[in-house]
Amino acid sequence: MRVVAEEEEDMLPSTPGKVKIERAGAMTRQLHRCFASTGTMFLWALFLVAMTATYLSFHSFVDTSSRYFAASWGGLHWERQIRASASPRRPPGSAEGAGLSVLVTGAAGFVGTHCSLALRKRGDGVVGIDNFNKYYDPSLKKARRALLASHGVFVVEGDINDGRLLTKLFDVVPFTHVLHLAAQAGVRYAMENPASYVHSNIAGLVSLLEACKEADPQPAVVWASSSSVYGLNDAVPFSEAHRTDRPASLYAATKKAGEEITHTYNHIYGLSVTGLRFFTVYGPWGRPDMAYFSFTRNILQGKPITVYRGRDHVDLARDFTYIDDIVRGCLASLDTAGRSTGTGGRKRGPAPYRIFNLGNTAPVTVPTLVSILERYLRVNAKRNVVEMPGNGDVPFTHANISLAREQLGYKPTTSLEMGLKKFVRWYLSYYGYNRGTQAFNNL
Ligand SMILES: NC(=O)c1ccc[n+]([C@@H]2O[C@H](COP(=O)([O-])OP(=O)(O)OC[C@H]3O[C@@H](n4cnc5c(N)ncnc54)[C@H](O)[C@@H]3O)[C@@H](O)[C@H]2O)c1
Repeated sequence: MRVVAEEEEDMLPSTPGKVKIERAGAMTRQLHRCFASTGTMFLWALFLVAMTATYLSFHSFVDTSSRYFAASWGGLHWERQIRASASPRRPPGSAEGAGLSVLVTGAAGFVGTHCSLALRKRGDGVVGIDNFNKYYDPSLKKARRALLASHGVFVVEGDINDGRLLTKLFDVVPFTHVLHLAAQAGVRYAMENPASYVHSNIAGLVSLLEACKEADPQPAVVWASSSSVYGLNDAVPFSEAHRTDRPASLYAATKKAGEEITHTYNHIYGLSVTGLRFFTVYGPWGRPDMAYFSFTRNILQGKPITVYRGRDHVDLARDFTYIDDIVRGCLASLDTAGRSTGTGGRKRGPAPYRIFNLGNTAPVTVPTLVSILERYLRVNAKRNVVEMPGNGDVPFTHANISLAREQLGYKPTTSLEMGLKKFVRWYLSYYGYNRGTQAFNNL
């Protein structure tokens, strides 16, 4: 009835006052409707925002997981492969003892491959982990993995930020040592992709140390720092006692941070830690982003090479260190690393904390390096000499290796001449330059 009355009311002729009242009533109704529909819209909007957020976070989770944790791992077959690879194979009663069981991070990298092979060859157990990132041609990393597989070394494809994977590895194998070489290397690339340095050299390092500290027994950790920590230091030769608080690149800063972070884990959890400051490592199976490698490629392809020169036309110089010498330093560090003292994440007593320079002690200028390459390649380089830009490079490096000599018996034996000869021979054979021609075979 009320409805009819309302409809009738609407049809009645109206006085001006009534019109006002009616208009006001209509507006209120309008407003109510409006608010009711805004409320509904608000709820819908909220729903849509929630759905979008859920989708995006799921998408980013899948993306992150697939980027970092894409490796398929686990299962009985996988565990059998890990155990077999980690088992030392020294003959019983061997003078060197039972043999080590080493987790090598960055095993498909340049230094990682050489160290893993050397450990395997002397009868130690080795399991590698590497995320095969695209910083440089991943096919080279895969070729190194194939080489390792042919010697019985298994490399897990995974990221050191994947704590579950690391915990699983330590559950399967009581590693005696970790040789930590995984990192985002390169000085100049840090200006292009700074996050990758934080990801691998800071977050990844902490993730690895967490796994090591929790492991029972705790492994001893030997890891790669870098000569770049000396940064703006100009006292030569660089000694472990010199200042390292003035890094010249983000790469150097992350390596320096690594030295402090490992010290913390040594101090709180009793992890045995040895940090190795490598000086410009080169050799067969090397890194394509490094000058000696890219110079070789460009010289052979007839392309110009960019040679940086320091202030006042001073040539840059590096303490180039041959890979076999570095490998000997790494193995000696593993052999002499004292035990970690913690269990179940708790320290039981002080553990060793060491830092060593591993260099060659004979710096060579970059133009000399180019001349040696020209001689071995029998091609003249097209040099493009430019002033060194302020992108993180330092004008020279020179190692004092007294400490490593004394405590590790480290004694580099390979000159740049000799080392580059071996590198060029490998390069030509790997990239197929000497197929069908004897020209380079007599190197
Ligand atoms: N080569 C040198 O001249 C030199 C000099 C000083 C220090 N270093 C240090 O020595 C170590 C080895 O260097 P390299 O020349 O063999 O470099 P490399 O790039 O060939 O090897 C590093 C490997 O680590 C892997 N990796 C990177 N981030 C990872 C992650 N988050 N999880 C798993 N794997 C990851 C890469 O895929 C790569 O295969 C590095 O720590 C580097 O910083 C090298």
